[in-house]
Amino acid sequence: MIIGAQWGDEGKGKATDLLGGRVHYVVRYQGGNNAGHTVITPDGQRYALHLIPSGVLTPGCTPVIGNGVVVDPKVLLEEMAGLIERGVDLSTLLISADAHLIMPHHRVLDKVVERYLGKARIGTTGRGIGPAYGDKLARMGIRVADLLDENILRQKLELALREKNQVLVKVYNRKAIDIEEVVAEYSEYAEKLRPHIADTRLLLNQALERGETVLLEGSQGTLLDVDHGTYPFVTSSNPTAGGACSGSGIGPTKLNRIIGILKAYTTRVGSGPFPTELHDEMGEYLRTTGGEVGVTTGRDRRCGWFDAVIARYATRVNGMTDYFLTKLDVLSGLDEVPICVAYDVDGVRHDDMPMTQTELHHATPIYETMPGWKEDITACRGFDELPANAQAYIRRLEELSGARISVIGVGPGREQNVVINDLI
Ligand code: IMP
Repeated sequence: MIIGAQWGDEGKGKATDLLGGRVHYVVRYQGGNNAGHTVITPDGQRYALHLIPSGVLTPGCTPVIGNGVVVDPKVLLEEMAGLIERGVDLSTLLISADAHLIMPHHRVLDKVVERYLGKARIGTTGRGIGPAYGDKLARMGIRVADLLDENILRQKLELALREKNQVLVKVYNRKAIDIEEVVAEYSEYAEKLRPHIADTRLLLNQALERGETVLLEGSQGTLLDVDHGTYPFVTSSNPTAGGACSGSGIGPTKLNRIIGILKAYTTRVGSGPFPTELHDEMGEYLRTTGGEVGVTTGRDRRCGWFDAVIARYATRVNGMTDYFLTKLDVLSGLDEVPICVAYDVDGVRHDDMPMTQTELHHATPIYETMPGWKEDITACRGFDELPANAQAYIRRLEELSGARISVIGVGPGREQNVVINDLI
């Protein structure tokens, strides 16, 4: 499995792409169209994917939307149409019958709730992700399989809207949602999606029994996990390794490599604590040099130095076996590169993630400064070809993170990697 080790946007698409040709299935197991993966194909084409797993761009690889994902069928169909128009074959795309649907009331609620939260807002992507997962856990969600029977769809929607329309009208002063309009709209989607709906957990386990390789592709990242992230400034699902099992129906004993994607510095979109965030021209430098603008929302990403407390935490929470360190080239040209090795919380040193939200809000980074490198590293393909200071930076990150760094990204192109250990 592949998982973001920080707050998302670590460059997971690139790692998936590197494995591409040798993987039979690529599975999204959580999240929804809050995600954005950028993949650049061999012919130099750039694709921004939101719901469809990046395996769709690799011939012979079956893309799967697992049961743990929340699917907005309108967005999915638009994304499918856009890919088909560019000549991508989508006939093999599989969508779990058990995945939950994002309904119109989820989208409206996501936005109005954020507005009501005011300064305490999460900074969500506004796609209805949180409300859809909320209904899933409250056992009033509507699933992909429900699309297959219009009567069931209507019954479930009636039940959900009985409460949601009251909330929309009486609490948030919005219009009630018309059941028949939604049934008509979603029935149309059903017809288009029908050929793709499948029992994906059965198919994936059968593939594993045949000895095939399944790649579980996480979206968002460890610190956005609803259990292990910087709650409440998190997404509403479990991107971490445990979530990959529940979100795909594959048992934990079947996972043999857990690959963390780690950016050579740190970024975050939305609100919430971020100890190494830079508010000065250095932060601006990382944002501009690294092209740090969200794929999904177009929002500027907050930028800061590498945080080893977070990396160590991600190694533990996920049981990382390997790291793919991305965007090392963005740091080329600096005189010095600071690494946050611990936090100072009200005068007390913390080498590990503080226990409480308040402590994390008070955390200030304790930096160790490494000498920088001026050389252009984008053409390096072997570890020995990297400047000595870049090698030392990587070795230090590895030591502090607690898992080996197996691949280093030195540029945006799919071949711009230094591979130390194969990822399969
Ligand atoms: P939600 O997932 O839309 O509910 O947003 C919750 C938080 O997760 C917000 O801070 C978002 O900015 C953040 N978030 C959601 N998806 C991504 C992603 O793919 N990359 C980075 N941040 C994300």
